[in-house]
Amino acid sequence: MDESAIAFVGRWLRHPRRTGAIIPSSRDLARVIAQGLNRNDYTTIVELGAGTGTVTRALVERFGAERVVALELSPGLARQARKRNPGARVVVGCASELDGLLEEHDTTRLALVSCLPLLSMPNMRRSLLQTAATHLGPEGCFVQFTYSPWSPFPAEEYRALGLRAQRTGRAWRNVPPASVWRLTLDRMRDAQTPLRPTA
Ligand SMILES: C[S@@+](CC[C@H](N)C(=O)[O-])C[C@H]1O[C@@H](n2cnc3c(N)ncnc32)[C@H](O)[C@@H]1O
Repeated sequence: MDESAIAFVGRWLRHPRRTGAIIPSSRDLARVIAQGLNRNDYTTIVELGAGTGTVTRALVERFGAERVVALELSPGLARQARKRNPGARVVVGCASELDGLLEEHDTTRLALVSCLPLLSMPNMRRSLLQTAATHLGPEGCFVQFTYSPWSPFPAEEYRALGLRAQRTGRAWRNVPPASVWRLTLDRMRDAQTPLRPTA
C-alpha cells in the first residue's frame, strides 16, 4: 500500500461513515467520471470529497488544473490530494460551505463532481441538491458515484427541484463496482411549464 492508501485507511478507521469507502477510488472509476464530462463543456469543475486525489487527477488531466477546484474535509487527505495534483487548487473545508466557494468562480458552465458518501449523509444530499438546482445553468451538471445498484438520489427529492437524473457509466473494476450518475436541469419540465400570461 502506498502512503496515500495508508492515510485513507487510517481515516476510514476513525470516520467510517464520513469516509464512505475502505480504499480510495480506483483509476477505473476516476476515468469513467472524467471521461463522462465533455472537455469543452465546462468552465469550472468542483470536486467534493477529493480524498487522496485520484478522481482529482483524472479531472486535471481532462480539464487542466486551472479549471479544477477540489474540496476535502480531512487536512491529511487533502495533503495527499495536493501531492498527487501539484498545481490544482485543493481546499480543506466542508461541502456545506459549497455556496460560498461557488461565489468565487465562474459557474456559467459548472460541473459538480461529488465523491461524498451521500447515502449516509441525507442532510448533505438535500442541501447539495438545492445548491445544484440554484447554481446549475442549462449546461451544468452534478455527478455522483455510488456503490448502490440504484440512484443515489431519491426521485421525489430531485424532481421537486426541477432536476433529472440518469446513470452515465459504470466502473466494474472499482472495488466495489460503482456506477456514475448525473443530475441536470430538467429541460422537458421547463418546456411543459405553461408561461404565465403577461398583463
Ligand atoms: C469515498 S471518499 C472519496 C475518495 C476519493 N475519490 C479518493 O480516491 O481518495 C469520500 C471523501 O469525502 C470526504 N468527506 C466526507 N465528508 C465531507 C464533507 N462534509 N466535506 C468535504 N469532504 C468530505 C471524506 O473525507 C473522503 O475523503
